[in-house]
Amino acid sequence: MRGSSHVLPLGVIAALMLSQVCSGIKWLALSHTPASLHINQTQHCKQLPGMVSSQAQLCRSNLELMQTIIQAAREVKKTCQKTFADMRWNCSSIDIPIDAPKYRPDLDRGTREAAFVYALSAATISHTIARACTTGDLRLCSCGPVPAEIPEPGYRWGGCGDNLHYGLIMGSKFSDAPMKMKRSSSHANKLMHLHNSEVGRQVLRESVVMKCKCHGVSGSCSIRTCWKGLQDLRDIAMDLKTKYLSATKVVHRPMGTRKQLVPKDIDIRPVRDNELVYLQSSPDFCSKNEKQGSVGTQGRQCNKTSSGSDSCDLMCCGRGYNAYTEKLVERCHCKYHWCCYVTCKMCERNVERYVCK
Ligand SMILES: *[C@@H]1O[C@H](CO)[C@@H](O)[C@H](O)[C@H]1NC(C)=O
Ligand SMILES: *[C@@H]1O[C@H](CO)[C@@H](O)[C@H](O)[C@H]1NC(C)=O
Ligand SMILES: *[C@@H]1O[C@H](CO)[C@@H](O)[C@H](O)[C@H]1NC(C)=O
Repeated sequence: MRGSSHVLPLGVIAALMLSQVCSGIKWLALSHTPASLHINQTQHCKQLPGMVSSQAQLCRSNLELMQTIIQAAREVKKTCQKTFADMRWNCSSIDIPIDAPKYRPDLDRGTREAAFVYALSAATISHTIARACTTGDLRLCSCGPVPAEIPEPGYRWGGCGDNLHYGLIMGSKFSDAPMKMKRSSSHANKLMHLHNSEVGRQVLRESVVMKCKCHGVSGSCSIRTCWKGLQDLRDIAMDLKTKYLSATKVVHRPMGTRKQLVPKDIDIRPVRDNELVYLQSSPDFCSKNEKQGSVGTQGRQCNKTSSGSDSCDLMCCGRGYNAYTEKLVERCHCKYHWCCYVTCKMCERNVERYVCK
């Protein structure tokens, strides 16, 4: 289109701009890709939902990576919903249908919840790629480099470390692409999303731990083979949830020669590299409000004995709850028979459940 003199009608321009408002995590719609689609031709990139043009370009030049990125999109959804199962906002708004690529407004606006989702998405895509290098799912990368430091006596480097370096490069290329587009979103939103994505990747970098396997006579563990591996996504998500709870509200304001994000209420200081930031306050998510992207907590299960966010008091916002008894049928009295099978009986057990009014 460059250099052409076509004039678009205003309505079209408005629609284009609206559709760009929050394209930053639209790629999560990739989680809906049919499992049967085997991506081995560039034409397949067109069939994939939720990608901006530069991501489609990355798809065409890195076909091999796409199956892993689709897997990452599924992981983001699953992990977000698990991590927030005990909160009023339960990450249901992340579930973006293919045919209605419109966001629930809570992730459209620069809220605390959006901050978490961007950070988790950035961490997850790099995590999944780094792991795929290790498992041999990707041909373009393999195990991470052998660490430079000399291991302690009795330890030696070996095995196959997660390739965090490759994961970070390819992951950030893909997930940051929408924020690097000229016309996407407002400047403030882009800065917020890029910052939070980087926080997610920082948490991922800090999640590298030494993992070892024992060798030696009958498990004496006289020698350990070790490598650098990433913690599970679940742990990384819990770290990010802590950051979500203490996220900093920021404003977009001139600092020096350009506009930057600076903390709103606290004394003047730059935004820290390790804090999640948001521009807009969230609703309390107590009642249904489609405009604000709140589905409310009516019908949510709560915990009568908990004193945390899943307690009936907090979850139900003081509206009270209904109790009912659920009959659970479980395997019980299991017996191991030599060799090799297990038999169990089925037992019934009643549990009290509580759901918000
Ligand atoms: C792509 O994958 C499908 C399914 O595995 C296979 O039938 C087809 O031959 C492949 N095409 C190419 C170009 O490799
Ligand atoms: C989140 O809460 C809503 C409203 O109660 C409920 O309909 C939905 O199933 C929940 N989602 C998940 C993933 O638990
Ligand atoms: C409810 O909360 C208590 C205390 O935190 C916990 O021990 C218990 O497992 C929870 N029950 C359910 C059903 O989650």
